[in-house]
Amino acid sequence: MLHLQSSKHETENKTGHCTKVVRSANMENLRSGYLFPEISLREYEHSQKYPNAKIIKLGIGDTTEPIPDCITSAMAKQATALSTVEGYSGYGDEQGSKALRKRIAEMLYGNMGIKGEEVFVSDGAQCDISRLQMLLGPNVTVAVQDPSFPAYIDSSVIFGRAGDLQGQNGKYERIVYMKCTPDNDFFPDLSITPRTDIIFFCSPNNPTGTAASAAQLRRLVDFATANGSIIVFDSSYAAYISDGSPTSIYQIPGAKQVAIEISSFSKFAGFTGVRLGWTVVPEELSYSNGFPIIKDYDRIVCTCFNGASNIVQAGGLACLSAEGLQAISRVVKSYQENAKILTEAFRGLGMEVYGGQNAPYLWVHFPGSSSWEIFAEIMEKTHIVTIPGRGFGPGGEAYIRVSSFGHRETILEASQRLTNLRTLNIN
Ligand SMILES: Cc1ncc(COP(=O)(O)O)c(C=O)c1O
Repeated sequence: MLHLQSSKHETENKTGHCTKVVRSANMENLRSGYLFPEISLREYEHSQKYPNAKIIKLGIGDTTEPIPDCITSAMAKQATALSTVEGYSGYGDEQGSKALRKRIAEMLYGNMGIKGEEVFVSDGAQCDISRLQMLLGPNVTVAVQDPSFPAYIDSSVIFGRAGDLQGQNGKYERIVYMKCTPDNDFFPDLSITPRTDIIFFCSPNNPTGTAASAAQLRRLVDFATANGSIIVFDSSYAAYISDGSPTSIYQIPGAKQVAIEISSFSKFAGFTGVRLGWTVVPEELSYSNGFPIIKDYDRIVCTCFNGASNIVQAGGLACLSAEGLQAISRVVKSYQENAKILTEAFRGLGMEVYGGQNAPYLWVHFPGSSSWEIFAEIMEKTHIVTIPGRGFGPGGEAYIRVSSFGHRETILEASQRLTNLRTLNIN
């Protein structure tokens, strides 16, 4: 079955020559195939089977709308300046330009007491997830929401913290899976959650599309404080929150002592290809011996990363200008409306739909079904690509994730195709 096996026994040697380098046991321990390339492969196979079909991609969460002109022109201006003696600049600060760090702190963490010096600008949240793993010692324990974005577990496996993959339930033995289902309002039952050093927590969560409330995050911060744990809070989808839920963990008093926040311009400003993100490491956060974690993170950034592109950082600054924020919010709103259209289409088929209100993802429930089968059936009957929930962890079985990133006419077409199905007839 897909994604339940480690890649231990795969061998591929096309040249007949092998080096004497032994493959890392951690790499061998990874589930075979990262989820998103696997989806692309399935999509490709479908296109070969139906060469005339117009495939609609609501699978991989990639943005589709153009980046507003006030942002791209700031990047173009910066790029052009590099051709002049006065405008040329080489290496910048590894942590990001002072101006952008300050702007992120002021615009996105204004009343939370985060300083520019605590913001580390990066080439994206995914890279920062792995950089954070570099910071941690070999025996550190990890908890994740189940289901969750695959990079938290996969990077933990690569860094040797996950233990063996257990074939029968598809879980890594040393990872704590915090179940998030409609029964617990997609928030883990912390009374039965064992202590771990690190708690990866994503809100709004990818894939469930649900945002934790202030009261829930209060409980999470209290739990981490009592256990001496660090929360790695991923707020990559914060811009999609529409119901007043916190957009940052630092809205919860006391969070600066227990939380690192990772975030991104990808879904916020259509920068999935441009690449820009940031991580906040508060000065108050320390190891058990009192040493400030920010000093080690700074060291990791200087050693493993040499700073984000200066052209892209100019784009980041433009995103956070008054004009940029207004333009971005129009794009976000359009994806939010897409989510509403798709929600109605699935509900029209009698399906239970979660998410969508605070995130660009719908989490559609097909009780008792295999998520890979639902994925395959929807693709077969409608030529619409979704993502099987199982790819986000055992807790994703019986769900599919549907992305609302897409041009409006494509979303309307998808909605029409779904509506034309009287029932998905699964089971
Ligand atoms: C929860 C979450 N975190 C991080 C990322 C990666 O973001 P970036 O494009 O900034 O690397 C994604 C991308 O889909 C995501 O869903």
